[in-house]
Order: sequence, then structure tokens, then C-alpha cells
Amino acid sequence: VIVPVILAGGSGSRLWPLSRQLHPKQLIALNSSKTMLQETVLRLSSLSEAADPIVICNDDHRFMVAEQLREVGIKPGAILLEPEGRNTAPAIGVCSIEAASRYTDPILLVLPADHFIADPSAFTEAVRKGAGEAEQGRLITFGIVPDGPETGYGYIQKGGPLDSGAFQIKRFVEKPDLETAESYVTSGEYLWNSGMFLFKASAILKEFHSLVPEILSACEAARKKAIVDLDFIRLDAPSFHASPSDSIDYAIMEKTGQGVMVPLEAGWSDLGSWEALWQVGKKDLKSNVTHGDVLTHDVRNSFLHAESRMIAAVGLENHIVVETPDAVLVSPRDRVQDVRKMVEYMRLMG
Ligand code: GDD
Ligand code: MG
Repeated sequence: VIVPVILAGGSGSRLWPLSRQLHPKQLIALNSSKTMLQETVLRLSSLSEAADPIVICNDDHRFMVAEQLREVGIKPGAILLEPEGRNTAPAIGVCSIEAASRYTDPILLVLPADHFIADPSAFTEAVRKGAGEAEQGRLITFGIVPDGPETGYGYIQKGGPLDSGAFQIKRFVEKPDLETAESYVTSGEYLWNSGMFLFKASAILKEFHSLVPEILSACEAARKKAIVDLDFIRLDAPSFHASPSDSIDYAIMEKTGQGVMVPLEAGWSDLGSWEALWQVGKKDLKSNVTHGDVLTHDVRNSFLHAESRMIAAVGLENHIVVETPDAVLVSPRDRVQDVRKMVEYMRLMG
């Protein structure tokens, strides 16, 4: 059995003003009529061996998460509630403990709830390819051919091929600096880490045990003292707080000797910015992507999203305009990475 573990606890600050603390990226509809979380769980319908998903999110979002799953007819195996975000390592640790208590040594498929995949059947095929390796106790990542020296990603140096079509991992480097990322991309030896993982519960727990035992023991205590309320499992706050805050990439993937990479060509994007949304969006004849009430004249290569009012734009090129009831973002497409800085600034200013 493959147990999907859905990570739904991030904040998505680069997609402001649509993505907010109370409505983070994974809980909103960005390029479809369904939310990113709903798209993620529905994508699993072609993976017949998948069990009911275990979802992990912040306590504040529990009703939205439960309601969104219900809306698309998905029954969760459990919804684990974090009193605070401690990054992906503890989230995955606690879900592995949960899954191992429900099934005998299941394979876990860890999926961020906020990725776009154009070709779901290529994704399913890659998962099946990885499942054989996972059975052998390996930790599988899915590698994406990079299209630039993006510094927000993990980089996987490809080793020798295995019979299954997977590759050994020579090196895993999380978020290298720009110079390093450039050299990786030019070398042609590196793929991006997609942030999706496949492994047996016993295999990942073993790595937690030897590489980050403090995280594992905090997770065990947080689950043991959790309060169970129907589908909701509310993790014990003091125990969970005691866990170091770290991502699975730094805590385990950079250090493990068990990593294996399955290449994924499925039109993957983590929709990390408005630029990425323009990239994957459905373009009109002038290569604009528009949502809602939008009127354009001589506008090209732009992304215009209207939530509550009409946007009328004249003569724009390569721009992003996002309208919401209380805030409007206007930015050239090649400057959208700075949106995160604006959000930090606004937080500081209260
Ligand atoms: N439940 C929970 N709790 N989920 C979390 C938490 C948390 O504390 N922190 C992050 N997540 C979720 C996010 O919502 C997202 O779906 C996923 O876990 C990954 O977290 P990010 O914060 O977006 O990671 P990243 O983008 O910096 O890097 C990861 O993804 C890249 C690809 O998008 C890494 O795995 C990189 O190596 C990878 O290239
Ligand atoms: Mg991300």
C-alpha cells in the first residue's frame, strides 16, 4: 500500500496578495477552479494502490482543509494538526509515525499540497517506477530537468543508472548560492529536487533515528500525547515545539546514503511566483493569462487577475496585475521574486 502524505502547512508569501496567512497558497484556487490542495488529492485518483491520504497542516486551517477535502469527495485517513510550523522534517516525521501505526510498513508518498503537474499520468508512472526502489529501503526523490539556476531549489547530482530506470544520487545540495547553481546547471549533471518523496516508513524512520534523533523523539512525543478528535489529530504543542525546525532536505536528503532519483517529466511547477503562474497558465492570442473581469487593449505577455473589481489595462507588456478587495499588486514579470520582500516589509510595519 502507498500512503499519500500531504504537506499543507506552508505560507506561500510570494503569491501575495492572493495568498495570505489565513488563506495560504495551498488552500486557494490559482490556475483551476479547484484549490491546490484539492488538485493534489484528486491527482492521486489514477494511483489505484494509494490509501486514504494523511494530511498535515496548521491547526488554524483545520476546518478549511476538512471542508475542501469533503467538497471533492476525499476521505482523509487523518488530518494531523500542527500547533506551529516546524518545517517539513518534523511534519514528515510525525506522518511517518502515524502511517506506520496504521499499516504494516507502508510506502509513503510525500506530496507538497501546492504543486502543479500538467501530466498526471507521467507522474503516476514515475511513482510506480520509484515504488520498487522504495521497497528495497531506498529514499526516492523525483528530479526535474532545470531550466535555469533557480536558487530556491534542491539540486541532485545524477549518479549511475539502476535497472528500474532510477538513478543513484551522487550528491544532494539544498538551495545553493547563485554561482554554484549556475555551475550545476551548465554541468548538465544536476536535476532539481521536486520536493516530492517516496520511501518506506521504516526506511525514513531509520534515517531520522540516525541523523536527527531529536526531531524523531519530539515527533514521537507529540503524536503520543496528541488529542484525537474524529479525523483531527491535534499534536501536543510543547512536545512538537521541542523539535528543531528543519526541512527534510537539509535534515535527511543532503546526508543520507540511501537516496535514489527518479526523473520526472510531467510539466511540474511549484507555482512559487506569479511568473510561474503566467508560465503554466492558459494564454490568449496575445500571450496574456487573465482571470476574472479583465479588459485589455494592446496588452501582451502579461498576467492579470481580478477578484472583486474590473481591471482595465492599456499598453502593458510583461506585467503582473493582481487585484483583491484590499490590495493590488503591480509588478514587471521579471521582478516578482521581490514580492516576498514586500510582504516581509509589511509584516515589520504591522
Ligand atoms: N505541514 C507542514 N508544516 N507543511 C509545510 C511546513 C510545515 O511546517 N513547511 C512547509 N510545508 C509545506 C509547504 O506548504 C510546501 O508545500 C512544502 O511543504 C515544501 O515547503 P517549502 O517551504 O515550499 O520548501 P521550498 O520550496 O523552500 O523547498 C522545497 O521544495 C523545492 C521544490 O519546490 C525543497 O524540497 C527543495 O529541495 C525543492 O527543490
Ligand atoms: Mg516551495
